Amino acid sequence: MKTLFDSYQLGALRLANRIAMAPMTRSRAPSSVADEQTATYYRQRASAGLLITEGTPISQEGTGFVFIPGIWSDEQVRGWRRVTDAVHQENGKIYAQIWHVGRMSHTSLQSGGRQPVSATGTPARDRASLAFIVAEDGTPGFTQTSVPRPLETAEVGRVVQDFARAADNARIAGFDGVEIHGANGYLIEQFLNPRVNDRTDRYAADTLENRTRFVLEVVDAVIARIGKERTGIRLSPFGTLFDMPEHLQTEETYLHLGRELSARGIAYVHLADQWNDGVQKISDEFLRKFRDAFSGTIILAGSLDKSRAERLVRNDLVDLVAFGQPFIANPDLVNRIRRTLPLAKPDRSTYYGGNAVGYTDYPSFGAQQEAEVAESH
Ligand SMILES: Cc1cc2nc3c(=O)[nH]c(=O)nc-3n(C[C@H](O)[C@H](O)[C@H](O)COP(=O)(O)O)c2cc1C
Repeated sequence: MKTLFDSYQLGALRLANRIAMAPMTRSRAPSSVADEQTATYYRQRASAGLLITEGTPISQEGTGFVFIPGIWSDEQVRGWRRVTDAVHQENGKIYAQIWHVGRMSHTSLQSGGRQPVSATGTPARDRASLAFIVAEDGTPGFTQTSVPRPLETAEVGRVVQDFARAADNARIAGFDGVEIHGANGYLIEQFLNPRVNDRTDRYAADTLENRTRFVLEVVDAVIARIGKERTGIRLSPFGTLFDMPEHLQTEETYLHLGRELSARGIAYVHLADQWNDGVQKISDEFLRKFRDAFSGTIILAGSLDKSRAERLVRNDLVDLVAFGQPFIANPDLVNRIRRTLPLAKPDRSTYYGGNAVGYTDYPSFGAQQEAEVAESH
């Protein structure tokens, strides 16, 4: 019987177990370069079968938060090298999540104070649609995103190449692969959603082929640079985060994408279930259909706990399970899940920004505590 603790072959990589750490922005890189503290954070969590980094922007234009480590400059690549070295020293494996936020940005984060770019000129305006900036008085905080400018048709190829260059940089930095961020309302989803994408060119939302053209161009460009076995992608079908309205074409869009990605033989598809008001968005029924469409490795994230994760793997609905918030407060999450030890609760107030507090200071479960728990069982 399959368990969460079996090793797993992901392309050329042998993962120690089926548990992945989901990508999480932590905004602790003041100069946009990963540093020793970043390396410590990932090293502490390297017992996950696969670590996926926080979203790392492919360009200044793709940035929607201050203090996040990017992957477009040589200095940033050197910063990430510390992280990959630290993780590999612990026998861990690590993918970089490469990210362009599109309209989820702010003029103060763009070179020359320019408008952010998107598939559309319509801004994201729901309550959650915020960029993380430094205000004029010097304090960091969330603010409404700026009105974007729709990318011109001829410019789209440049953004595709920014993704490809970032993938190449990730390879140079020693990552085992990249996860293209196609989820959570960011640039790629701004093209995929027919109620956001109001274009009339070959990237318009009118047909399946046009709607998925941008994301598949990105995938193809990344594969061309680093190989299909190092290329993963994150998608959030049925997600509504950041003003992504629900639409009737979700299933056909994502199943089409699944088939196209399958034909390309990429390393994995990582499905991010956003949940909403305590309700699961990605049903088991959809997972089964996606399994039929996509023959490679499937990862699922979103409010998982041990028993649901075990059931999903046992029933062959997914191959790997990803945990986000539980990894923030439990660097040794794999051990805790394995031995059914109690989980520490993460402090939301230290999710973004700040220092080591709430970042690298969560302890592993101690041997003493473990003995006590064993006795009480
Ligand atoms: C602090 C924080 C930062 C996040 N940053 C990212 C990110 O950079 N990229 C991404 O795809 N998802 C991001 N997410 C979403 C998580 O990857 C994950 O899908 C979500 O937290 C649900 O999983 P969980 O219930 O196990 O936490 C973030 C979530 C949190 C809590």
